Amino acid sequence: MIPSIAWNDYYSVGEPSLDAEHKQIIFCINDLFAALQEGAPAQAVRPVLDCLVQYTLTHFQHEEEVMQAYDFPGLAEHKKLHDQMREKTRTLHERAEAITGQDLLFFLKQWWLEHIQGEDKKYAPYLKVSHSRR
Ligand SMILES: [Fe+2]
Ligand SMILES: [Fe+2]
Repeated sequence: MIPSIAWNDYYSVGEPSLDAEHKQIIFCINDLFAALQEGAPAQAVRPVLDCLVQYTLTHFQHEEEVMQAYDFPGLAEHKKLHDQMREKTRTLHERAEAITGQDLLFFLKQWWLEHIQGEDKKYAPYLKVSHSRR
């Protein structure tokens, strides 16, 4: 069984509103984990994807606005990663019946944790620099 995700302050990007959105997305993913533990994989996939489509699209747009506001030089590259995930999330949502809960959990957990730690953290120093200038 793939474990659920525990929020760690290490995941923080230094902007409370973005951290809150990341926590919400992790919450959606953990709902799937909880449903799988209760043994309801087939019914568990759809609500998780409903949850994720909603929060992923809103979050990516907000995050891109923040990166732009702080002149983060990696914006274009980061946006491409978001575009790929927007597409992937929509496709998964359309084909929710074709994916098992375990596979979905594995994919989501891996993508989101890698993205937050590996990519989102890259813009964190730019937010800090601008904050300290004020
Ligand atoms: Fe991102
Ligand atoms: Fe993010």
